[in-house]
Amino acid sequence: MLKPVARLPHWAAAQGLQVQQDSQTQLHVQRPGQDIRVETEAIDVVRFIAAARQRAWDLLMAQAFLDLVDVPTTLPALLSLLRPGGLFYCPITFDGGTVFQPEIDPELDVAI
Ligand SMILES: C[S@@+](CC[C@H](N)C(=O)[O-])C[C@H]1O[C@@H](n2cnc3c(N)ncnc32)[C@H](O)[C@@H]1O
Repeated sequence: MLKPVARLPHWAAAQGLQVQQDSQTQLHVQRPGQDIRVETEAIDVVRFIAAARQRAWDLLMAQAFLDLVDVPTTLPALLSLLRPGGLFYCPITFDGGTVFQPEIDPELDVAI
């Protein structure tokens, strides 16, 4: 399966968006009236919050994440990064199965 960063250009193109892959971590998608820049970075949330204050964010997404951090401190800090009217999408959904990829040892993976 392709990683999300790899899947997004294909999905955007299928939606009729013009897609420009600026680098491995930067994607630019456009259509009339919409100009969306996507940047991905692997970073600890505390470091992200400190660095992210340089900009006002339109959208923050964190799937299956808030249950792993201290919500009383992390959630207000994340919300404070949003521009007025910005969106925060933070679902915690789980299909009930944990999968290790790539598979290393099938028996051990099942035992875990
Ligand atoms: C349950 S996984 C969800 C991954 C992915 N969003 C998904 O839905 O498949 C939780 C993710 O949060 C990341 N994570 C945990 N603590 C973090 C922290 N302090 N800062 C940044 N990421 C963290 C983990 O590395 C992991 O990728």
